[in-house]
Amino acid sequence: MLSTLHRGDAGPATAAREEFRRDVVAGLSKRQKSLPCRYFYDDRGSVLFEQITELPEYYPTRTEAAILKASAAEMVADFPAGAVLVEFGSGSSRKTELLLRQLPGLRAYVMIDVSAGALEDARQRLGQTFPRLDVRPVVADFSYPVALAPDLQGAPKIGLFPGSTIGNLGQPEAQRLLRLFRAVLSPGGRLIVGVDLKKDTGLLHAAYNDAAGVTAAFNLNLLARINRELEADFDLAAFAHNAPYNARDGRIEMHLVSRKRQSVRVGGCTFAFAEGESIHTENSYKYSIAQFRSLAVSSGWTPRQVWTDPGQLFSVHELVSA
Ligand code: SAH
Ligand code: AVI
Repeated sequence: MLSTLHRGDAGPATAAREEFRRDVVAGLSKRQKSLPCRYFYDDRGSVLFEQITELPEYYPTRTEAAILKASAAEMVADFPAGAVLVEFGSGSSRKTELLLRQLPGLRAYVMIDVSAGALEDARQRLGQTFPRLDVRPVVADFSYPVALAPDLQGAPKIGLFPGSTIGNLGQPEAQRLLRLFRAVLSPGGRLIVGVDLKKDTGLLHAAYNDAAGVTAAFNLNLLARINRELEADFDLAAFAHNAPYNARDGRIEMHLVSRKRQSVRVGGCTFAFAEGESIHTENSYKYSIAQFRSLAVSSGWTPRQVWTDPGQLFSVHELVSA
């Protein structure tokens, strides 16, 4: 059973749809049109993201998996017995299996994600692989406080935030989120975070502009979702995927660029696009190890260990409550 946390009084599905509509209308009303990247992950978006993780150009997932494979035992060595593992944005939970194998005494594994489809697939697979593990899927936005089930509240909690999802937030939002996680995991919390590192621009560009066009399909799926859920009329063929590296801000940006002058209707509003005008759909910040440790400190955490791969492509940080 999936448990769903929602805010507001209206029916949960209606409230979520209304929030989606408000966010889309607000984003498309800006001078630089933008859309929040958490909306990529409907069922189709989650499947496309999984395909991205297997692309030859997309190094983050396999590199982080290799780091976890090499160091999982060390990472979990002093986890307290009876701890609860709480993962934020768990997606398929495939890399998490590398940690779960080392944690036979875990009280429960709480996986939080906005994608009900991804959680359900993960729950079924984990049930087969770890039949004795207490798996608790929670459909929720991790940017809001998440209360654990009453029977888990007294247990020590370890947070996991892999995949460099932290990189999809700008600095103030990342600080706010790290502070929130600290509160959710308190007292005495600990957080393991995967963070993509700064690197050669060519490698970055290839990772977000793959030859097979899967990242383009992932980006365009956001428009398909808006069409389906908000009765909009985006013509997907009239938008092109573009993902340049913004060196000044140290981030890959994803955009959907209008191929022509056009107007689009979304939930009763009309939005005009000039030829070449873009919707900014995602940022993916790349950090140095020192930069991320400094972000963690400014968010109330104390950095402890950090693990990387031999090519220094990706990093996994252990943070503890100060
Ligand atoms: N942790 C996995 C998936 C990373 S993709 C990995 O490392 O491969 C990012 C995941 O975070 C997706 O599963 C997406 O649905 C989820 N997500 C993105 N924004 C979210 C939010 N605000 N709240 C909860 N989940 C979110
Ligand atoms: C989930 N997140 C860290 C991915 C990233 O690399 O920023 C999402 C993604 N966007 C395009 N490809 C993958």
